[in-house]
Amino acid sequence: MRIIILGAAAGGGLPQWNCGCANCIAARHGRIPPMTQSSMAVSSDGENWAVINASPDIRAQLAATPALHPTGPRTVPLQSVLVTNGDIDHVAGLLTLREKQAFELFATAAIHEVLAENPMFAAVDTELVPRRTVALDTSFGLAAGLTAKLFAVPGKVPLYLEGDVVDTALVGETTVGVEITAEGRRALYIPGCADLPGWLLERVEGADLLLFDGTLWSDDEMITAGLGAKTGRRMGHISVGDPDGSLARLADTRLGRRVFVHINNSNPLCDPASPQSARAQDAGWQIARDGMEISL
Ligand code: MLT
Ligand code: MN
Ligand code: ZN
Repeated sequence: MRIIILGAAAGGGLPQWNCGCANCIAARHGRIPPMTQSSMAVSSDGENWAVINASPDIRAQLAATPALHPTGPRTVPLQSVLVTNGDIDHVAGLLTLREKQAFELFATAAIHEVLAENPMFAAVDTELVPRRTVALDTSFGLAAGLTAKLFAVPGKVPLYLEGDVVDTALVGETTVGVEITAEGRRALYIPGCADLPGWLLERVEGADLLLFDGTLWSDDEMITAGLGAKTGRRMGHISVGDPDGSLARLADTRLGRRVFVHINNSNPLCDPASPQSARAQDAGWQIARDGMEISL
């Protein structure tokens, strides 16, 4: 199995257009690597690919990734796109993929419903891009040689569908993780996750690779940096470095490799030289960057 991180950042990217935080300034000045928004590509044979989450940066991401370049006048290695929630950073790129090109679009019924309710997504022609509804915990063929399964993780509805009261610990079809298997190897991709209860630790135990939500280092970092009013949990993201964060929760889980993805520009993990990056690496984690490749 071959995985390419197309975009390692959370929504907004690094730098984010309206952000003057230390990381965004450093990225603008070339002191730390910029990162595009959350997406990855996966293949079992290097010729047929699935993209997981279609970010607003997908045009530049595909351009920067030779494995996904067209191989004929209208022939592309992309067989399918799968989205793990309805967040703008994971679905807006579908509009870029509208150029009368055939591929399969996989999601849960709840996520397909969100897309169907927005008439703009009709631009992605259903004749050419069949909507494949996937039931939770049920295997399906994602692309040539790749089997996948979606599973619920704690999360919430997309920001633009939030009502007055928001349940940030929904476990259902709105936020899912993906298990991808090929030739006996098992990779798990969970770019958004509000909590790591025991049943989810059991679910990830023993995987060859875990790509996990690295949005925020600490739950209150947006607030203390003066960037926003919300905690990580309120945004549907467990922190990395707090005492009840993912580093601590996953410390005793057996995993081949562990990689943080969906990293917000406020997160000290954006800076490879930060003490927090050293702490994550000491705990066995890698921090994803755009273009990072993983072979299993
Ligand atoms: C998130 O991951 O929390 C979302 O991408 C937020 C957003 O839609 O801006
Ligand atoms: Mn996001
Ligand atoms: Zn910033």
